Amino acid sequence: MSLKRELLYEGKAKKIYRETSEKVFVEYKDSLTAFNAQKLGSFEGKGIVNRNITVLLYKYLEGQGVKTHFISAEEPNGIVATEVKIIPLEIVVRNILAGSTAKKFNIEEGRILERPLVEFYFKNDELGDPFISDDQAVALKVVSGPEIPQLKEIALKVNSALRVLFAKANLQLVDFKIEVGADSKGQLLLADEITPDCCRLWDVRTQEKFDKDRFRRDLGRVKESYEEVLKRLENALGVTK
Ligand code: TMP
Ligand code: ASP
Repeated sequence: MSLKRELLYEGKAKKIYRETSEKVFVEYKDSLTAFNAQKLGSFEGKGIVNRNITVLLYKYLEGQGVKTHFISAEEPNGIVATEVKIIPLEIVVRNILAGSTAKKFNIEEGRILERPLVEFYFKNDELGDPFISDDQAVALKVVSGPEIPQLKEIALKVNSALRVLFAKANLQLVDFKIEVGADSKGQLLLADEITPDCCRLWDVRTQEKFDKDRFRRDLGRVKESYEEVLKRLENALGVTK
C-alpha cells in the first residue's frame, strides 16, 4: 500500500484511498465489528480473506451481468474500484428468516420464505441502521423514486446468482446485505463488499453457521469459518491457485 495515497474515508472494515481522479483503492482491514460497532474484534488475515472472497464474487457476478465497481485486485489486501457515491442504504435480501426480522416478529430462525424479501435499512450507525420504508427513503431524499425498483432489481439479481454459486459450495445463502453507488455518469454499481461479514451462510447439510454470527454470538472458529467459505467458493468456481 503506497504511502502517497490520500485517505478519503475509514469505515469499520475498510479504508478508502484516492487512486486516480475516478478510481479508489479499497483496503480490507482485519477488524471485525458487530451491533453497529458496539462489539469489536479482529483476526489476522481477515482483510485478505474478505478481499479474496469479494473479488471472487464480484468477478462471478460480473459474468452474470451484474455491474460492480470492481476494477482489479491488488496485493495483499486491496482492490482498485470505480469511485462511486454510495447510496446510504443497507439493502438486505432474505431467503430464510433469521437475525433482526426473525426477532422483530418473534419467529424462530430458519423459516424458508416463499419469495426473497428485500428490505432497506438507513445506513447510520448512531441511529443503529433503522429499517426505512420505500416511501420514507424517497420522502427523505435518500434515493430518488425511480431508483427504488432499480435497487430491488439489482438486489434480486445478485441474490439469484449468489444462491446458485453458494449452493455449489454446499452453503445456504440465508440473507445478505449489499450497498450500491452511482458512478460519475449516474450509473448504479454494486459496491462495498460481499463477505461472511454481511451474509448469513449455513452449511446445507448440518446448518452450521459460517458467517459473522459466529463472532456476534461467540460461537468460536470465526477465522476458520471465513477461510472455509473462501475454500468452498474456490472449489465451486474451479479456481486454481
Ligand atoms: P439483520 O438480520 O441484522 O437485519 O441482517 C441481515 C443480513 O444483512 C445479515 O447477513 C447481516 C447483513 N447486514 C449487514 O451486514 N450490515 C447491516 O448494517 C445490516 C442492517 C445487515
Ligand atoms: N453490519 C452491522 C455492524 O457492523 C451490523 C452487524 O453486523 O451486526 O455493526
